[in-house]
Amino acid sequence: MVWELGCGHGHFLTAYAQSHPEELCVGVDIVGERIERANLKRNRAQLNNLHFIQADARLFLETLPTGTTLSRIFILFPDPWPKLRHHKHRIMQPGFLSCLASRVGEGARLYFRTDFGPYFEDTHRVLSPHPHWELSDEPWPFEFETVFQSRAPNYRSLIARPRRLP
Ligand SMILES: C[S@@+](CC[C@H](N)C(=O)[O-])C[C@H]1O[C@@H](n2cnc3c(N)ncnc32)[C@H](O)[C@@H]1O
Repeated sequence: MVWELGCGHGHFLTAYAQSHPEELCVGVDIVGERIERANLKRNRAQLNNLHFIQADARLFLETLPTGTTLSRIFILFPDPWPKLRHHKHRIMQPGFLSCLASRVGEGARLYFRTDFGPYFEDTHRVLSPHPHWELSDEPWPFEFETVFQSRAPNYRSLIARPRRLP
């Protein structure tokens, strides 16, 4: 399953699902109104391989049925929580990344993109030594501008794959 968390109004994943009809795509966002708008897009495009669900990303991951594995995970312009005392709310934390790693299939990839420099640096710091992930310099697999991407003067991306055992 391809998973986008914090999918907003679903622009990216609708375009992705349209051009990857053989892949099952699921987008989650915690805000119901965003999921409603995403579902309108999905219905208009008549995509059977795409589903949008209102959910907290962490809870969704924890309750994913056994046997469901993630092939591609997209985290695009997640809330940056710029204040130091709010950093604990950021999604890119070592524990979340471990949980994510326990649900990925062979050849999986994690795609992260942000326009907030300090969040990029922190995520790089968390991912580089992570026991279950390693950074990869491969190209971004699919481009389609998200709402936040269209407003960002610039942004940076990271790609990670499950760490190979020595
Ligand atoms: C900054 S917006 C980016 C939206 C979209 N990815 C884009 O690039 O336009 C972050 C999104 O993450 C969602 N979000 C925040 N915390 C979440 C959580 N715990 N679980 C799921 N979605 C969450 C927000 O509702 C919001 O739609």
